[in-house]
Amino acid sequence: MTNRLITTLVFAGIALAAAAQPAGRTSFNEGWTFEKDGASRKVDLPHDWGVEGDFRQEYPGESGKLAWWGQATYRKELEISAEDLTKDIDLEIDGAMSHATVEVNGVDLGGWPYGYASFAIRLNPALKPGRNKIRVHIDNPEESSRWYPGGGIYRNVWLTKTNKTSVAHWGTYLTTEIGIVNRTLNQADAKVALRVTLKHAGEKTVGMVRTQIIRQDRYKRDGKEVTVDRVLAETRSIEYIEDGKTVLQTFDLEGARLWTPEDPTMYLARTTVETPDEVLDRYETPFGVRSAEWKADGFYLNGDKTFLKGVCLHHDAGALGAVWNDDAWVRRFRMLKEMGCNAIRTSHNPPAPEFLDLCDRMGFLVLDELTDTWTVPKKEHGYAELFDEWVEKDLVAMIRRDRNHPSVIAWSIGNECGEQGMAEKWDIPRRLTAICHREDPTRPTTAGNDNPWASSQPYAETIDLYGFNYKPHLYAEFRDAHPGQPVYGSETASCISTRGYYRFPVEEEKGLGWSMEAPFQVSSYDLYAPGWASKPDYEWAFEDQVPECAGEFVWTGYDYLGEPTPFNMDPSVLTNFHTEEEREAFKKMVAGWGQVIADVPLPSRSSYFGIIDLAGFPKDRYWLYQARWRPELPMVHVLPHWTWPGREGQVTPVHVYTSGDEAELFLNGKSLGRKAREGYRLRWDDVIYQPGTLKVVAYKDGRFWAETEVRTAGPAARAALEVDYAGEDLVFVTTRLLDKAGNFDPTACNKLTYKISGPGDIVATDAGDPTCHTPFTSRTIDAFNGLCSVIVRRTGAGPITVSVSPDGLKTEKIVLP
Ligand code: GAL
Repeated sequence: MTNRLITTLVFAGIALAAAAQPAGRTSFNEGWTFEKDGASRKVDLPHDWGVEGDFRQEYPGESGKLAWWGQATYRKELEISAEDLTKDIDLEIDGAMSHATVEVNGVDLGGWPYGYASFAIRLNPALKPGRNKIRVHIDNPEESSRWYPGGGIYRNVWLTKTNKTSVAHWGTYLTTEIGIVNRTLNQADAKVALRVTLKHAGEKTVGMVRTQIIRQDRYKRDGKEVTVDRVLAETRSIEYIEDGKTVLQTFDLEGARLWTPEDPTMYLARTTVETPDEVLDRYETPFGVRSAEWKADGFYLNGDKTFLKGVCLHHDAGALGAVWNDDAWVRRFRMLKEMGCNAIRTSHNPPAPEFLDLCDRMGFLVLDELTDTWTVPKKEHGYAELFDEWVEKDLVAMIRRDRNHPSVIAWSIGNECGEQGMAEKWDIPRRLTAICHREDPTRPTTAGNDNPWASSQPYAETIDLYGFNYKPHLYAEFRDAHPGQPVYGSETASCISTRGYYRFPVEEEKGLGWSMEAPFQVSSYDLYAPGWASKPDYEWAFEDQVPECAGEFVWTGYDYLGEPTPFNMDPSVLTNFHTEEEREAFKKMVAGWGQVIADVPLPSRSSYFGIIDLAGFPKDRYWLYQARWRPELPMVHVLPHWTWPGREGQVTPVHVYTSGDEAELFLNGKSLGRKAREGYRLRWDDVIYQPGTLKVVAYKDGRFWAETEVRTAGPAARAALEVDYAGEDLVFVTTRLLDKAGNFDPTACNKLTYKISGPGDIVATDAGDPTCHTPFTSRTIDAFNGLCSVIVRRTGAGPITVSVSPDGLKTEKIVLP
């Protein structure tokens, strides 16, 4: 074994490698035939049939009022040469919802039931030279999810051809250890350990496993992006090669740049498997150099105590449904970063592999979660049905796929599992923790826990880190009762609101911010939460009292499809229940939680929990979190909007979020007083509304810090189009409705009709209204509180023009970059 330091520069035109991957892997997404309900059509993957359909009032709001369930088939032909057949040929499916089975030429090759797992199916036993018929069958049962799961092959699919002797599937495991950290340079000397597991057919043979550690420098040359591979270290291991053998290679990296959320530097381990005559395989493992330690008093990254400013995220991307799309998530992550978020909990399932690639590259710390259920069911056909047979396979698949990501800092084995309260079942979390430790001794386990009793029981020791869902008042007690065991908020706040909707009077204690009558929206004063949850302030007060709390994961960063609490589980929609009895029992139960619930048809189909709405527009509390999470950023935000025709002379409370410590409010130039921040916000609760300009000036340490203003708008007179985010595949365009003078009209709900010309398609429209039943695929949609988003897919090179015609107003156009 050698470990030489090489400084050669290798020029290569390839882009930064994403997930760990073998060289023989190609996309297998294009040109499938999709068959469902007797109809058939061409689709490219990733594909989610649920999100293409109509919202229907009679479908459960809990899972999005879209028809994501049912059976369907995807077919595609595969041309195979005799030479190909000397190789192992795998179909890799990153995620199919759900119960996928794969057939080739009519031969059943198996499948994978859990819709969030990634898996590979070896096709060879059924392949022949020439044309082969691939068929993936999906059987997605109703009553299997508490939120919108999607339906179909909704993540990427790959065809992987590897030599019989090569790196095994997910066959690398890389860990880093760092020495003394140079904080100024953000560097440390590091030891890298790489375990390469091989697959091999036939007699054992001698071969070489060679790994280079590479830093990829990217820059522009002649207008083109060039990647320069700088080889930093190399190790060669001459080995007897046997199937299943693991080869350990180690490397010393001097002055390695550390991976942090602010500076997420990535390296690459490029492994080849060679004989004297041939390179049999090439496999790339991207990695970051970092240490991640959970201590009794919090989480430490590279030795620095790092508070987890996290959000929980479900897997859908709003109007795109469950379909994985890089651009959609880059857009989402940029917005979370801007807010100051540095961590994500993938509630309640393993994400797409590219999700973690983005977390690596953009700098988020991740709790990678397995499931919402162990053996105690939450839904009739939920994960409990799979648990006994599949849990170990699913957990191992998650860990082997994800354990090289520097972003992943813990394995979450479950969420609010009923077993917390059943001492006779604590072997389950014990066993899952043991599997995690076996597969990855470097990361601790955790779970999201809601049962307060369990936290004082031996249950707490079945996991390494204790996550509380909505119980910040127990942080201190837990710390004292379990010295040494880290504690944090796995779900926090659960504030609910609708972007741009305000309800009066603002009665925090008595009022609910919503009613069971139209418009089925929740007031955006950020004071309202369901019975089990709280406003953010309640959580923060405890975080501030318990410095050992490692951080929080807000429920949720973005609104998601389904679970539209407080308008969830409409008791008048029979599909929410199986029997009249269940319906009555539900009514009683929610009445016990202090919720108002009536037999009225509830239209809501997406959540109100998000800090950002489903269409990607921030709600007011985006700035409440920014003020807390980025205290160094001069900022101030004021609410509500100031366009209230008819409210003249009425009390209209004004609240201010700022990273400053004082602020002065002015209405039409007249001061309404300067106040110091009490708690986490500033409140002027008795402002009498008069149209005009509401201005706020914030101060910090007595000095000017930031200012902002909102103005009363007249009726919308025109639409303004702007590019919110332009990716390689998708472009997100925002429509804002403005009055004559150019002021944003926060009340405008004009019907908008979009058209497109040039090499692009309109994929979806969404204005962020949780009650809207306009299909996402429609090109005509009502704006919601002044805004709307349209998602455009590029289909070729050249300029694309998008136009919007708001009813009664003139058409506006934008040419996309
Ligand atoms: C939690 C649960 C989440 C979500 C949330 C809504 O109890 O873990 O999945 O349902 O409540 O507040």
